[in-house]
Amino acid sequence: MPAPTSVTINVDGRDLQVPAGMNLIDALEHHGIEIPHYCYHPKLTVAGNCRMCLVETGMPMKDRATNQFIIEPDGRMKIGWGPKPAVACTTNCTTGLHVRTGSPLVKDCQQGVMEFLLVNHPLDCPICDQAGECKLQEFATDYGRGYSRFVEEKNVKPKRTRLGPRVTLDDERCILCSRCVRFCSEVAKDDVLGFIDRGSYSTLTCYPGRELDNNYSLNTVDICPVGALTSTDFRFKMRVWFLKSIPSICTESSVGANTEVWSREGKIYRITPRENNAVNDCWMADSGRELYKSVESPSRIDFFAVDNGKCIADKALNRATELLQAGGVGYIGSAQSSVEEQFLLWQLVKAEPGPVSLISHTRKGDGLLISNDATPNLRGAFLTSLLRELPKADINDLREKVNTGVIKTLFVVHEDLSALGFSEDLLRRVQIIYLGTHANATSNHAQVVLPGLTVFEKTGSFVNQQWRAQRFFQAVPGPAGTAPDIQLLSQLVARVKKVTASTAVSPASLWTELAATVPALAGWTWESLGSSGRVLDASAWAHISFSEGKSLHFDPAAITSVATG
Ligand code: SF4
Ligand code: SF4
Ligand code: FES
Repeated sequence: MPAPTSVTINVDGRDLQVPAGMNLIDALEHHGIEIPHYCYHPKLTVAGNCRMCLVETGMPMKDRATNQFIIEPDGRMKIGWGPKPAVACTTNCTTGLHVRTGSPLVKDCQQGVMEFLLVNHPLDCPICDQAGECKLQEFATDYGRGYSRFVEEKNVKPKRTRLGPRVTLDDERCILCSRCVRFCSEVAKDDVLGFIDRGSYSTLTCYPGRELDNNYSLNTVDICPVGALTSTDFRFKMRVWFLKSIPSICTESSVGANTEVWSREGKIYRITPRENNAVNDCWMADSGRELYKSVESPSRIDFFAVDNGKCIADKALNRATELLQAGGVGYIGSAQSSVEEQFLLWQLVKAEPGPVSLISHTRKGDGLLISNDATPNLRGAFLTSLLRELPKADINDLREKVNTGVIKTLFVVHEDLSALGFSEDLLRRVQIIYLGTHANATSNHAQVVLPGLTVFEKTGSFVNQQWRAQRFFQAVPGPAGTAPDIQLLSQLVARVKKVTASTAVSPASLWTELAATVPALAGWTWESLGSSGRVLDASAWAHISFSEGKSLHFDPAAITSVATG
């Protein structure tokens, strides 16, 4: 017989349907009942060490002589309550389980645990970086006694200990829950953290000769329930209640980890993972958290230019249109561009045809959240038909065509031609229209520069390695002088086609066109991508050969893979 998928348990006198075998913390959370906890984390093994989740549990009693349930005079089953409270994180739901979450005994336990946790705690929330998102602070308010009976001298532990290049430990705030220890060992596969000494003197530290330097170290900061582990980059830069968070997608790999971008008044302060159990659980790589710094890079392009002179947008777009209409055009697309941008580039190429090459960047993945493909949207190019229906060329073909004068103008999106084997001489011999965000050799040689936006400054979608289309949203405005890539591309399409450009181009409007153009997306809308993405049916991409072994292989071979750092 298959095991029942749900069982009925009784919580504080109320019958609830819960998944069979699920632990009490998770099961009750589904019903909006909070069991306070510190050491339990749904993505880690259960340690059961903090004792914050204590509840009373009982089961219906049976008469040993008859094996029948004992019925009380009021008609209810008699419950045999355990002699001691039980930890909810190790208690699994079974039929008939009875739970008390707010009895006097449970409240006494919670107050006792809170009192012990705070015995040596500094209690300086006003100057603590975790204030505003601290479980110790929240539970002390909700489940604590409200005052301390501890009058002795506190045991002072080390402060500002460097655990690794990105993580700083404030030991006196640590409640020894071991979440960080388990994360490193179980998820990052880097068993680097542990405790030394005993009792009140227990201290979190790295193993001798080691540092917490794996590429997932900042996830320990996210899951630390208190202010013990802090991001060296973010600590004491901004109070969290001043920050707003916007859902985004990490662009450093085709995994497409879901993220939150935290900003205030147009400035980004940090990136944290956003839970998507189908993609990245609730983790992300440290390297992806640094990417926002490119927004304020000194090499940022924040002006339109023609022949190296700053100009207004109209002049640059008109000059780009002239160059495109003069013929002999080649295109270099980017796997960094969003689905919507690739779709518009496809429209531009159809209006003013020329060979297209798409550049992918590769490096050795780590088997976790870093894939061999170092770009977020290679598959989006196929989805939008950029490579399927257009004249294709690999980068060597394009170089040769520039060399022989067949290609007179190159429209380059984000890529740097010098990194693709174009010599200075070749760069001088071709006219370049560059749409990008940061200066490079290509923008320096470009006849026309169109200043686009980074992923943090625009809204769009990427298709990740699972062929899951996922949305990202604008977190901060772009610098003055820049414009959304979709506006620049749609303006160019309209000028080349000699039609009036839509003033209301948006990801939503482009998805309406995509649904009407791409058979695999028929019926899809921008909204239908939801908050965790939507997976493309395999029939839409099964004919495309992608293999991400030691290197990337693609068919059609119009993609040029460039090894990156
Ligand atoms: S860790 Fe939490 S409870 Fe402790 S000082 Fe910081 S904010 Fe307050
Ligand atoms: S540093 Fe934070 S996550 Fe690690 S054991 Fe201490 S309280 Fe728990
Ligand atoms: S959550 Fe720590 S003992 Fe249950």
